[in-house]
Amino acid sequence: MAISILPFDIDSASREDFTEHHELALAAFAVDRPDAPLIDFETFVGRLRAIPPGVAGQRIWTAHDEGRLVGSVVVQLPRLENTRAAVVDIRVQPAMRRHGIGTKLLQVGTEGLREAGRDIVVGRGITAGGDGEGWANRLGFATVQKIVLQTLQVAESDYTRWEIAPPRGYLLVQWKGTAPDDLVESYAGARNSIRDAPAGESGYQHPVWTVERVRHAEDDARNRGVEHRVSVIVHQESKAVVALTVLEAFPHLRTTAFQQDTVVVPGHRGRGLGRCVKSAMMRWLTAERPEIGLVVTNTAADNNFMIQVNHDVGYLTRRTMLTVEADLTDLESRWADGRAYR
Ligand SMILES: CC(C)(COP(=O)(O)OP(=O)(O)OC[C@H]1O[C@@H](n2cnc3c(N)ncnc32)[C@H](O)[C@@H]1OP(=O)(O)O)[C@@H](O)C(=O)NCCC(=O)NCCS
Repeated sequence: MAISILPFDIDSASREDFTEHHELALAAFAVDRPDAPLIDFETFVGRLRAIPPGVAGQRIWTAHDEGRLVGSVVVQLPRLENTRAAVVDIRVQPAMRRHGIGTKLLQVGTEGLREAGRDIVVGRGITAGGDGEGWANRLGFATVQKIVLQTLQVAESDYTRWEIAPPRGYLLVQWKGTAPDDLVESYAGARNSIRDAPAGESGYQHPVWTVERVRHAEDDARNRGVEHRVSVIVHQESKAVVALTVLEAFPHLRTTAFQQDTVVVPGHRGRGLGRCVKSAMMRWLTAERPEIGLVVTNTAADNNFMIQVNHDVGYLTRRTMLTVEADLTDLESRWADGRAYR
């Protein structure tokens, strides 16, 4: 077996290139995510192109055995926050595993990271108990957080669950793209309560939300063609945003949306505002974007309240996934002394 690793340019890739990537993903997902619905070609390519918020860009390398695609690594460099981290996503064709390809992809993917100011390597979405966990342990990664993946299939949902009015004294407000000037300051303040969510041992840093940071995130979404929807609950007496949820839909991904941060600020918890604001988001989304059939969200595995709220809204828990972290220095020493390949 002669494995070659090559850079992959998403902008100049042909349909045949994407088809090969899609086939690799289908083969890998059948083993790693057997619970997940099969991902169609358009959705797959859309996901590859959908660079998440707060990421400057991504680099991809592919592994080939006699010209055949057998693996890939996607490396993303967060900006503004988490600027010491590089997030890697490695995939190897199941029939080609345990031949050192995943490790080689990691080594190539981490080259040059130090020069880019990165010294922490993060892996996300690794199926607990799967090949990725064994591999990450072997390479010295530490599991820093357990996450549950929850998905809502719109076609299977009972829309009446979402008919929840805000309690007396609270008002629902929704916007796409730009927060209204009279709410943006308290919206920014409320978003900072996301820090109360359990974070495990993860070094992940949430943004410090200010009006400026909110406007920056809105511009960022607009520039990337991302539809950025926000539903909030305003406490009428104080005129403050006290609950919020954010949902994003990417331009190349017509049928999937991502439920992002949801927050209820302290002092207003326990009044059903989380369920209310998420239900409002689903009413709004299904009315305006009927083609979206799947909504995906990630929640810390020990965040029982949020998991329960999601169940109430119609999300099902699909699987537990791990976030792992390693010091770049430690990985480099493994490449240097050959430990990674023994
Ligand atoms: C994780 C993954 C990329 C590893 O690819 P790979 O090419 O099989 O990995 P390697 O051959 O480089 O494995 C190196 C060592 O890791 C360990 N390892 C790999 N898979 C393992 C498993 N399933 N169980 C236990 N240890 C494992 C072994 O020690 C292996 O060396 P050995 O085969 O000589 O014993 C591949 O399993 C995969 O695509 N998984 C699904 C996606 C994923 O979880 N990616 C995580 C990275 S972000």
